[in-house]
Amino acid sequence: METKRPCLIDHYERRLNYLRISITDRCNLRCRYCMPSEGLEKLAHEDILTYEEILRLARIAVGLGVDKIRLTGGEPLVRKDFPHLLPELMSIPGLKDVSITTNGIYLKEHLENIRSAGVSRINISLDSLKRDRYRKITGFDGFERVREAIQLAQTLGFHPIKINMVVLKGINDDEVADFARLSTRYPFHVRFIEYMPSGLLLHNEPLHHVSNAVIRERLEAVEPLIQLPRKPTDGPTVRYRFEGAQGEIGFISPLTHHFCQVCNRLRLTAKGHLRPCLLSDEELDLRGPMRAGATDRDLEDIFVGAADHKPRAHHLNSKDSESLSGQMSAIGG
Ligand code: 5AD
Ligand code: SF4
Repeated sequence: METKRPCLIDHYERRLNYLRISITDRCNLRCRYCMPSEGLEKLAHEDILTYEEILRLARIAVGLGVDKIRLTGGEPLVRKDFPHLLPELMSIPGLKDVSITTNGIYLKEHLENIRSAGVSRINISLDSLKRDRYRKITGFDGFERVREAIQLAQTLGFHPIKINMVVLKGINDDEVADFARLSTRYPFHVRFIEYMPSGLLLHNEPLHHVSNAVIRERLEAVEPLIQLPRKPTDGPTVRYRFEGAQGEIGFISPLTHHFCQVCNRLRLTAKGHLRPCLLSDEELDLRGPMRAGATDRDLEDIFVGAADHKPRAHHLNSKDSESLSGQMSAIGG
């Protein structure tokens, strides 16, 4: 007889089956929308979860019904021994899907290992198709490396390869049609992400988002977009396709479109805090209790507590809105 697996359900009847794990707060880039150019204060080595701790928490989460895990950072591939984590994670029974979000700089050299561990879904951040502009946005002349990594990922059979572009007014918004057209020729899922203002960037030059509605209009002027039916795994993405295209186009609109009602995520930060919502600062500490000897049962209770604390919606676009105050590179985006 099949026993019913327990699951994390919040007060708004959202089943939380998706855990994003930030495995490091460090990053080898300085994207203007994410970090101040001088970088951010780094967590001390001992403050970051060890791989054993990450695996233990992942197993507990899967025991509570999480079946999808994404590894993020910072940049996950800057963490040493990254290749050892994946096979162990993949062997957790009940975990159906593991994916990675990366900036692509170190990706080429890791791709074969990632693929042979059984991971086929990968998200790559890319904000410009122009080498010089890429350098200006990220602080590093890495466009070619990322392009080569994307190419190799395709050769190795990764699918889907999602290309995430954060659209910034006056900086890269003239490239949205070029990005969208990539989905015609290649089976890529190109996704436009609205820039979320961050309180950490007050000393940088001001940045402005472009609403996804505006981007969609611009794309429609080039070629009609066909909306794709919603799948339960879509999360916040609204998906379209150009007629006859191999790939697709997605819009993620944290600012202008409330997608909170379909949010199925919890986040585990690099320092071992559970964060019920990306856009709210509340976090529950798992690392402290774990290092003080908590049992799996005690840690399960903290997961359940995080589900209980998941807010109904964020207020980023309301009048009294705040900017994102946490550090995206430690929370995992
Ligand atoms: N606004 C929107 N997305 C952001 N990311 C980081 N900072 C921001 C921000 N301020 C996301 C982007 C990027 C990923 C690593 O994190 O999607 O591709
Ligand atoms: Fe850029 Fe991602 Fe690194 Fe932030 S964490 S600087 S968005 S690559």
